[in-house]
Order: sequence, then structure tokens, then C-alpha cells
Amino acid sequence: MAHTTKLNTDLTGKTALVTGGTKGIGKAIADELAAAGARVIISARNAPSAESTHHFIAADLTNAQQASSLARQINDEFGGIDMLINNVGGLTTPGGGYSALTDKHWEDELQLNLIAAIRLDREFIPVMTARRNAVIIHISSIAARQALWNLNLAYAVSKSALNSYSKALATELASKGVRVLTVSPGATKTPPMEKFIADYAAAQNIPEESALAQLLQQTGGIPMGRMAEPEEVASLVHYLVSPAASYLTGSIYAIDGGALPVVS
Ligand SMILES: NC(=O)c1ccc[n+]([C@@H]2O[C@H](COP(=O)([O-])OP(=O)(O)OC[C@H]3O[C@@H](n4cnc5c(N)ncnc54)[C@H](OP(=O)(O)O)[C@@H]3O)[C@@H](O)[C@H]2O)c1
Repeated sequence: MAHTTKLNTDLTGKTALVTGGTKGIGKAIADELAAAGARVIISARNAPSAESTHHFIAADLTNAQQASSLARQINDEFGGIDMLINNVGGLTTPGGGYSALTDKHWEDELQLNLIAAIRLDREFIPVMTARRNAVIIHISSIAARQALWNLNLAYAVSKSALNSYSKALATELASKGVRVLTVSPGATKTPPMEKFIADYAAAQNIPEESALAQLLQQTGGIPMGRMAEPEEVASLVHYLVSPAASYLTGSIYAIDGGALPVVS
């Protein structure tokens, strides 16, 4: 391979699907990949704000039929994709430990944070292996490696499962031209994170700044002293899907301001 002094992160001629690309981290990823030259398709249950310029297709990815029809529509209209960013997910279940969680809570959390990605990968892998030089990204969370029983039990477990699945899939596809990588953000300034802090503050009857400080303390704090901006997560994803990252597969990348208190 010729030595180059400039990283090749150009995505011209590539097509990406960013699930949950209308808000938060997904929106930042969609904007970043488009700025790097990619044609970007976004999906979510609700349409994006009027200024979004990406091609939008509505789908609830916890519904198998809607996921299938999204994939069919993209394969028919766009001839497939080169980059699949499985970003849909979130903490939707209550805190309070094992006894606060019903079967329905567990099933919903697993659908949103694990099965949605698995079924979409299954839809697109045949066309991605045929195109080669393709990349699948799974947006996980540092919670996968640090479950907090009273805050995020079902969410953390579903993201841990996503990490294991992603690693195995990477091994299976390594010789077939598809790289598979996991990105694990820590606390990131998005609408659900802001709501989570506001709800916690209201429940404890304390100001939001104190709620944030308490929550961060429970996870050991953030050495960099702040949450991530969605654009910072998007920069990492951009690098990972680009030709500059051509030998990376099967790895998990924490982006957390130093928060995860372990050697990884
Ligand atoms: N924010 C954080 O601090 C943080 C930390 C670690 C990991 N993460 C992970 O990062 C990812 C993005 O989180 P975020 O905070 O950016 O979330 P967000 O701001 O709530 O955005 C979620 C996106 O997913 C879509 N969505 C939600 N449920 C869906 C469904 N059933 N089917 C299809 N689309 C759906 C939403 O649009 P609609 O509601 O219109 O469907 C929206 O576009 C998630 O996987 C999350 O677990 C976030």
C-alpha cells in the first residue's frame, strides 16, 4: 500500500442509511457523512425537520414488516447501500431494578436496541457483500460495559448483547468485504438525555445541574467534565466508515470523555 500523508475520508459515490437519522446522534452522523460526499438516506418513525436535505423514508424498526419494506424500497430505488449506520435505540424502560421491569419492558428494550439492528443487517448483508467495501456500524453505549441496576438495567443488557452480536458478525463477514464496528458513546447531549436529566431532577426535586452531577457521580463521573456533542460521535463514525479505516473490523470504540473506568 502506498504511503499517504493525508487520511482518505472521502465518501463520494457511496450511499449510507442512517437509522434514527432525524435527531440527536443520528442526525449529526447523517449531516457528517453527507458533508463527506455520501448520498444519505435517513429513516425514523416521524419525518425530520423541514431543513433536512437527506432522503427520508418512514419506518418503525421494531416492526419486522416495516424494516423489510424499508430495505426493499432502498434496494429498488438506490441499488443498495455501502454504509449501514444502525443508530436507532435508546433507554425506554424505568429505573428501580429487576422488580420494576416486566416481560414487556424487556421485550421492548431488546427490540429497539438489539433486534432492530439484527433484522436490518440481515436485510442488507446480501447486497453489501455483493458490492464489497461495505461497512456496518452499531451504535451501542458504554452502558453495555457498566450496567447500573437502578437506572438502566434492560437497556445496558440489550446493548451488551448488541456488542457480542456485532463482534461475531464482524468475524463472519471479514472475508466477504463487509467491515462491522461498534461505537459506544457515553453521555451525549441529545433530546432524550436532556429529558432523562430533567425527569430525574423533577423526581428528586432538585435543580437539573445537581441532577446531572448526581447521575454522573453514579457512573464514576466524566474525566473531561462534560457530555459529548453529537457531532463528536459523528466524527468518529465518519472515520470508521471511511477508506482510512480499511483494516478495522470487530472492534468497539468508546467515545466517552474518559468515563468508562476500565482498561478496554
Ligand atoms: N444520547 C446519549 O447520551 C447516548 C449515550 C449512549 C448511547 N446512545 C445511543 O445513541 C443512539 C441515538 O441516541 P440519541 O440520544 O441520539 O436518540 P434520539 O435523539 O432520541 O434520536 C433517536 C432517533 O431514532 C428514531 N427512532 C426512535 N425509535 C424508533 C423506532 N422504533 N423506529 C425507527 N426510528 C426510531 C427517532 O425518531 P422517531 O422518534 O421519529 O422515530 C430519532 O430519529 C441510540 O442507539 C442510543 O442508545 C445515546
